[in-house]
Amino acid sequence: MSATTDPAPGEYSFIVVSNRLPVDRIIAADGTPGWKHSPGGLVTALEPVMREKDGAWVGWAGQADVELEPFENDGIHIIPVPLSTDDLENYYEGFSNDTLWPLYHDVIAAPSYHRVWWDSYVAVNKRFADAAAANAAPDATVWVQDYQLQLVPKMLRELRPDLTIGFFNHIPFPPYGIYSQLPWRTQIIEGMLGADVIGFQRVADAGNFSRAVRRLTTNMTKNPVIEVATAGQPTRRVIAKAFPISIDSKSFEELARQPHIQARAAEIREGLGNPGTIMLGVDRLDYTKGIGHRLKAYGELLADGRIEVEDVTLVQVASPSRERVKAYMDLRDEIELTVGRINGDYATMSHTAISYHHHGYPREEMVALYLAADVMLVTALRDGMNLVAKEYCAARFDNDGVLVLSEFTGASDELKRSLRVNPHDIDGLKDAILAAIAMPKPERASRMKALRKRVLEYDVSRWSTSFLSTLAEAKINASTGFDPDPLGELEWTVERVPARQAD
Ligand code: F6P
Repeated sequence: MSATTDPAPGEYSFIVVSNRLPVDRIIAADGTPGWKHSPGGLVTALEPVMREKDGAWVGWAGQADVELEPFENDGIHIIPVPLSTDDLENYYEGFSNDTLWPLYHDVIAAPSYHRVWWDSYVAVNKRFADAAAANAAPDATVWVQDYQLQLVPKMLRELRPDLTIGFFNHIPFPPYGIYSQLPWRTQIIEGMLGADVIGFQRVADAGNFSRAVRRLTTNMTKNPVIEVATAGQPTRRVIAKAFPISIDSKSFEELARQPHIQARAAEIREGLGNPGTIMLGVDRLDYTKGIGHRLKAYGELLADGRIEVEDVTLVQVASPSRERVKAYMDLRDEIELTVGRINGDYATMSHTAISYHHHGYPREEMVALYLAADVMLVTALRDGMNLVAKEYCAARFDNDGVLVLSEFTGASDELKRSLRVNPHDIDGLKDAILAAIAMPKPERASRMKALRKRVLEYDVSRWSTSFLSTLAEAKINASTGFDPDPLGELEWTVERVPARQAD
């Protein structure tokens, strides 16, 4: 880490704004502060983009009540935004992760609505917008990320109308019937509409958003364009469409090809007693990931005698997440109880049923695990994309391994030759697991080849290039008065329901 010198603050022509920085500040046991890579797909996806552009990253350093000066980390200019203990409770754990997160993930857990959480969300979004506005060069491009910061685009446009503003929603955008529960539904839509381009993971998410725009505002939509009318200002054209996110696929393949990673994969297999099949789950410990459904299916297969613990082992990596939010504490208890029960019932002296790990692992270890795993289980109940599914395919340069993938992930729109499952259907999931275990090698190879082709072609650089070039075009078109529909062939859609009173 070193102090940032060049360019000076206020001169960055490209800025990413996200709740979390790519590194989290940690305090070692002896009290010394240090840094560790922060969790989640967002950072994984944006890091390579940031390294390519000499931009700045505005975000929170993962610890409350610390004010940090801007610094440089691994070639990226970092501009920390402080959060207090109260902000953490109300903006992060509260509104972001106990209101929006469950609401946007199909109310798998019940969302809570509290006005003090909303007030904090507004205040913290303003702080992020101020930091971006203060650091952006004239006419700079600012790319705002995810559901924690949905008000930032509008706030930023008010502060700095010269900027080109992009917004990308990494998680699903729910159907209107669910979204409309939110007492502040109109403010959020208006906040996002401050961007020039709004990106979503799936076509369905973009459709849900456009529908919410029509229901809650007087703006008209003509897919993918939304005409935003603001009193006293020229009408703006906003693009809202799908840009499925990806990974730096080549770097996973390159790691997997290294002999020491392959040796580590062999060592992992050995350590697990060399079972015929190793199945793997890798998730943040989150109720959206369907870890319980996966364990249930595996436990039942053992109970039914359709598999034996000597033949099939499950490795579950569950990295700690949002540990002070009650739903996450309850989930941890539930998962660990289930793991304990299955191991208690079925493990032998030489074979564990489930090898459970409540940590994150460095990328090298993850790639070794991907190589060691015959079957990858991604059973999310709802997931914006699921980059783990893509990482598994990218790592399998040997064209082996079977991906079992929930149809409720964004990834399932692209990874069509996976074994797609509905994780709520436990019998269907059990059958898919057995089919994956028994799949003959030629079929495994043909499926994995197709999956890898997609993941290698549509990598994260293609994602960011496609988003950022749409953003650049949108800006040019807006300033030249471009009409996306010069022949008037598309039909504008407008509908409106009266806004509900917030509590
Ligand atoms: O992808 C969704 C997301 O919430 C990201 O915004 C975030 O970086 C990641 O998951 C991890 O979540 P958190 O920052 O709450 O630990």
